[in-house]
Amino acid sequence: MTLAPWRSPLARALHRNRSLAASRYPQLATVKPDGRPANRTIVFRGFWSQTNHLQFITDQRSQKVEQLQHSAWGELCWYFGKTREQFRLAGKLSLITAAQPDPSLASARTALWQNLSDSARQQFAWPNPGGNWLEKPAFTPDLPDAQIPLPNFCLLLLEPTQVDHLELRGEPQNRWLYQQQTNGEWSLKSINP
Ligand SMILES: Cc1cc2nc3c(=O)[nH]c(=O)nc-3n(C[C@H](O)[C@H](O)[C@H](O)COP(=O)(O)O)c2cc1C
Repeated sequence: MTLAPWRSPLARALHRNRSLAASRYPQLATVKPDGRPANRTIVFRGFWSQTNHLQFITDQRSQKVEQLQHSAWGELCWYFGKTREQFRLAGKLSLITAAQPDPSLASARTALWQNLSDSARQQFAWPNPGGNWLEKPAFTPDLPDAQIPLPNFCLLLLEPTQVDHLELRGEPQNRWLYQQQTNGEWSLKSINP
């Protein structure tokens, strides 16, 4: 797969904002079954292999996973504070669970688990997210195996079909719209900010 044209401005933004930890924490919006939006902060975990699919990790028991069963559409909103630019990446989300039959996706999930810190892995052994509050000891379970992911650990992939890039710097501001066509090619146009 060739790199989509929005990859280089996004890579540039990630590089120029690398001193700000928060520049790897975009917000991901999904659609609730009642049609209302749901939004949350999530850590960007790089691209899957040689594709344009963005990787995230999440807990299968979380609300966002339930929302995906009703609508696979998602939109990532990403602001880079140092360079003052925003990317909005919209597309389909796919959840890679423990039951994933494709070996390359299954190994991407395992690799992300193995790269986590112990404390990040431990969060997947915490009580049900969003459940009634439990006493603190419930949040100090034994450390899970560092090699084999817990069953509720998921890789979440976003495959963008539209990317809206706004640069606040400049007189006037700059805004570009990347859209994927039905043949898979990307179009790019400058639009009004
Ligand atoms: C800085 C930051 C990073 C986060 N990273 C993740 C993440 O990588 N994956 C994740 O599922 N939740 C992450 N969260 C928690 C989510 O924002 C959210 O609270 C949680 O996933 C439950 O969301 P849901 O009920 O919409 O499923 C992060 C929160 C913050 C503040």
